[in-house]
Amino acid sequence: MLSDLDRIRRQTPAVAQLIHFNNAGASLNPDVVTEAVMAHLQLEQRIGAYEAAVVADAHIENFYKAFAALLNCQPSEIGWAENATHAWNSVFHAVALLPGDRIVTSQSEYASNYLALLHLARLRQVHIDVVPNAANGQVCLERLERALTGNVRLLALTHVPSQSGVVHPAAEAGKLARAHGILYLLDACQSAGQLALDVDALGCDMLTGTGRKYLRGPRGTGFLYVRETSLQRLTPEWVDMHAAQFTGPHTYRLRDDARRFENWECFVAGKIGLGVAVDYANAIGMDGIEKRVRELAACLRDMLRENPAITVHEAGSDLSGIVTFSSAAQTAEVLHKRLLHKGINTSVVRLRNNLLDLGQRSLGDLNRASVHYYNTEDEIALFCEAVAQR
Ligand SMILES: Cc1ncc(COP(=O)(O)O)c(C=O)c1O
Repeated sequence: MLSDLDRIRRQTPAVAQLIHFNNAGASLNPDVVTEAVMAHLQLEQRIGAYEAAVVADAHIENFYKAFAALLNCQPSEIGWAENATHAWNSVFHAVALLPGDRIVTSQSEYASNYLALLHLARLRQVHIDVVPNAANGQVCLERLERALTGNVRLLALTHVPSQSGVVHPAAEAGKLARAHGILYLLDACQSAGQLALDVDALGCDMLTGTGRKYLRGPRGTGFLYVRETSLQRLTPEWVDMHAAQFTGPHTYRLRDDARRFENWECFVAGKIGLGVAVDYANAIGMDGIEKRVRELAACLRDMLRENPAITVHEAGSDLSGIVTFSSAAQTAEVLHKRLLHKGINTSVVRLRNNLLDLGQRSLGDLNRASVHYYNTEDEIALFCEAVAQR
């Protein structure tokens, strides 16, 4: 299906009007996703929302099946969340921690995750160890292995950071975590939908992500994965009548699947839409998507490097569809706005939100252009021309 790029682009109407290089922010929904969301909202309007959920039960359940196919796991290991931050916090706060326990993370951890770690360290007197990146931008595996000793209860890593196109060696980290019997939480918010993911190969116990980025789902949607054999080591911080069931007036039992991390109320139309988006990605094929995204991003980096005023910040060779760069001629903000004015969507990575990583690399605000498989080489050429203009 990826061979029929024209069809894919016709199913993504906005590409006729603009160049969308902000897929790491939110990518464009294919027609089928928008239609599925609208159809469910209209059904809710026609017959009532609770009644619509009963009628649409198979479409809602498809969410779990689609993600199980995407991640190579069981539908019972998948849970819904309203976004990646909520998904991550639901499973993170389920890890049993005592004062003095340690959590290991990396320099590239997503800013909101790192804030949650710092907050918990303050509340519960746990220690956070931040493993630095090696010269190629990936987390240093030797330092990571040395950090995974003693009373470490959790390894929390981000697969593809928001602020850099580096792909971290998540599977190698998984082997280390497993060897030490340490729970491993992988933030796959930027990798899901652009890289082929297999939770067995990654070796993670928990994995979290969002719908609107590379998965091309609706905003306000997210997901989590929890390995069945790790579930008993995780106790949700809060439960409702969906996550647990009364066994008597004063007793209850937690669900025995990943839905113990869900709330009963949710954005049903969005859940259906995200399931459709994941089906769409699965039908195209994640291996092909990954290959094309990596090739397009490599092409973009090469063309940007031809401009002497531009510095591309990704080092190393394991890189994703996220390209970060700076211009000697314009601030990140000015360049971003100028591109927007020309119908080119990009984003700015802000130092103030990424002090841990950008501070370490002595960088300021950066421009970020993130490509998806529906982008083209022609768009890349037009983009580089626009960057070069004043
Ligand atoms: C790596 C990473 N993790 C988590 C998030 C948070 O996602 P959400 O806004 O859906 O909570 C983002 C968002 O940019 C991200 O890039």
